Amino acid sequence: MNTAAHLPGHPHIARKDGVLHVEGQPLPVLARQYGTPLFVYSRQWMLDALAAYQRGFEGRDAMVCYAIKANSSLGVLRVFAEAGCGFDIVSGGELARVLAAGADPVKVIFSGVGKTRGEMRQALAAGIGCFNVESEAEIDVLNEVALEEGRVASISVRINPNVDPKTHPYISTGLKGNKFGIAHDRAVAIYQHAASLKGLKVVGIDCHIGSQITDASPYLEALERVLDLVEAIEKTGVALHHLDFGGGLGIDYNGDTPPAADALWHQLLARLDARGFGQRRLIVEPGRSLVGNAGVCVTEVLFTKPGEDKNFCIVDAAMNDLPRPAMYQAFHQIVPLAPERAEPPAVTYDVVGPVCESGDWIGRDRALKVQSGDLLAVLSAGAYCMAMASNYNTRGRAPEVLVSGERATLIRRRETIDDQLLSERLAD
Ligand code: LLP
Repeated sequence: MNTAAHLPGHPHIARKDGVLHVEGQPLPVLARQYGTPLFVYSRQWMLDALAAYQRGFEGRDAMVCYAIKANSSLGVLRVFAEAGCGFDIVSGGELARVLAAGADPVKVIFSGVGKTRGEMRQALAAGIGCFNVESEAEIDVLNEVALEEGRVASISVRINPNVDPKTHPYISTGLKGNKFGIAHDRAVAIYQHAASLKGLKVVGIDCHIGSQITDASPYLEALERVLDLVEAIEKTGVALHHLDFGGGLGIDYNGDTPPAADALWHQLLARLDARGFGQRRLIVEPGRSLVGNAGVCVTEVLFTKPGEDKNFCIVDAAMNDLPRPAMYQAFHQIVPLAPERAEPPAVTYDVVGPVCESGDWIGRDRALKVQSGDLLAVLSAGAYCMAMASNYNTRGRAPEVLVSGERATLIRRRETIDDQLLSERLAD
């Protein structure tokens, strides 16, 4: 008998006869074919996540710009480009990626506190839709570059609304002490200055208050502050064509209960309507909530190692593949690929990688029935894992497979040692 049971919170990951599948693909088969560590993504999860935003915005003039920093692999970008998405980028490299994936440049917005003149030129030449500028100095430099290039740069100014998103301090961005955005009380003067510059065209306002936000209240608070500013700015005669509320919506890592994108936007749109801004063009920049739970990282148990204080389960994925636990003490669920079995007995392990750092851990105090050669899946690995992966300890970056129903496509092969050595040479 074939029984399928979805993992709670992971509608496209299921056990079929006990074996873990992403959509129609058994993960042990993919692990045999491509080796481990291996990232596997569900295309349908991404499309469903996007559809939740689209439902939320039905009947509105809205654009979803996928923040590609969450996962910038070309095969992933193509899924969103084909679905008509715009993109939020933060570097010239990311611009090259979205163009290579077939993005419409008009639907590209360029965020980030430190754009170089070269990146500004590259984005102007590509004809991107909007620069989200973050400082007075950047406004002046962008104006200069646009004039030199004989172009006009459309801009939105990022406001720091000083709202606490109640998330990890490293991923809070909308507080007074953060490097992001311009202070609320400087906004009107800065907009007036920007509007006077010949190389710039003011088109919008934006904010982004943080990431992995699991509660609607910080969004509602930021929205009111941004709208107060829009009113004040427009009173001075500067028109704002669009309002961009950034990204930040969280996902379920371990029983987290963020609002669904459509439910969140129903709430926010009610406030926008009440204040008379419901028909304004709206932009959002979600990253994690479009890809986070689409992905798993499959890893093999190399050794189990009993210790005096702790037992260690040493796997072949490490902090260079999955940096979030080391960087943010983040929690990712870890589950076996194979059906539950009686032996060996469950032992509480710290699941760690081969990298030479005590910070190289993937999960702490996990009860697992494992032995060498077993395969495990680290869940919620679609966002900020591959995109933040490194070559630390001269480890090649893992391959990625995109699954669509029964079809699996290798969208990135495993990085070889030759790939790594290619850009280096010995001194004369
Ligand atoms: N827009 C801007 C201007 C951003 O800075 C970010 C994320 C986003 C959009 C997308 O945010 P999301 O929807 O993904 O929350 N590496 C960290 C997350 C860093 C987020 C940085 N900015 C992590 O692994 O948790």
